[in-house]
Amino acid sequence: MAIDAFVDRYQKERRNTESLKWDALEERFEDADLLPLWVADMEFQTPETVTNALINRIQHGVFGYSLDNADYFRSFSAWQEKRHNIHLQKEWLRFSTGVVQSLYHLIQCFSEKGDGVLIQPPVYYPFFHAVKDTERKLVVSPLKSENGQYRFDLKDFEEKLRVEKPKLFILCSPHNPVGRIWDEDELLEVLSLCKKHGVLVIADEIHQDFGVGNKKFVSTLNIADGSFHDCLILCNAPSKTFNLASLLHSHIIIPDDKLRRQFDQRIIFYQQTENNLLGQLAGQTAYETGEEWLDGLLGVIRLNYEILINRLKKFPAIIVSPLEGTYLAWIDLTTVIPRKKIKEIVQKKAQLAVDYGEWFSEECEGFIRLNLATTPTILKQAVDQLVEALESYEGEFN
Ligand SMILES: Cc1ncc(COP(=O)(O)O)c(C=O)c1O
Repeated sequence: MAIDAFVDRYQKERRNTESLKWDALEERFEDADLLPLWVADMEFQTPETVTNALINRIQHGVFGYSLDNADYFRSFSAWQEKRHNIHLQKEWLRFSTGVVQSLYHLIQCFSEKGDGVLIQPPVYYPFFHAVKDTERKLVVSPLKSENGQYRFDLKDFEEKLRVEKPKLFILCSPHNPVGRIWDEDELLEVLSLCKKHGVLVIADEIHQDFGVGNKKFVSTLNIADGSFHDCLILCNAPSKTFNLASLLHSHIIIPDDKLRRQFDQRIIFYQQTENNLLGQLAGQTAYETGEEWLDGLLGVIRLNYEILINRLKKFPAIIVSPLEGTYLAWIDLTTVIPRKKIKEIVQKKAQLAVDYGEWFSEECEGFIRLNLATTPTILKQAVDQLVEALESYEGEFN
């Protein structure tokens, strides 16, 4: 679908719909008038087929206890097979109400209080919260950046495995916020190190469908023909791909029998809830019918990234990390403004609500994360406001 056609058809005003992104600005940023490009959800309606399936089910009007849809797995696995060449088996699949919730559960099922959990900042901040809230020990191996191009620091990573002896490693792939789609050989190296040191890998692949650059996403499940299945648990969901986050439905995939048994024995301490009927229906319908919609959306994200890069050319020193996966642009403004001035410029002057770098890593104050899953009109307005604020700053302080 052409980009304009996609935007016209699916964009939607979200104010006053209990939208976290639009309706919590006063509470979160103390200014209800900011233009919001934070929270990773989108300004677009999910495919009509999904909405229609929900309407039909809602019109039935009875919402008593329900079973899982017997066809769910077929639809989900067909999508994984077609888009990512991932071959799943039905018995590997467990459901959850979200990937973040799954992280809390998996940490509790596979480690004890005080055990180390390794993460790689800058990284999606609920990873930090999940480790701290479950009273595990935070172990970090920061990514290395060269001019905004991030990679694993394998030497430090192995050192942390050797010295800190974490039980778990939470991998973000594709990586939020730096936008990397990890190469097969990079994944092979980190997985090999984890296996060597007896560390269980929890791979958060929720952004799997957002290959927006030239690289193809490779799932950890497929590395070395599945040789890491005995030390790997995967989390993904239809929620990011099809804008269904509030329907609270996601997957935990555990290919290894022993790990699955351990999970099943321990999860009963934390989770007795049934599946969300509407979340599962929406996800299933999206997997069956949402491909054209997703391809249209990816066009919008690519265009928005181009707009961002072009408009920021006025400030060649600003570093925007190459966007391979995710719909989140990671922008280093430390080369043009002092780190401590970031909120004054971005919030007070540019009137934007963004995710701030320090949410993802203490080292990244002065960075921002901008959400590109919006209309080109909103994105242009946001970047123009940012550029104008940076220009006026130069005028004022230099
Ligand atoms: C890497 C990553 N994991 C998990 C989530 C959230 O997943 P959920 O809404 O299923 O908890 C996000 C949302 O932005 C994310 O970027």
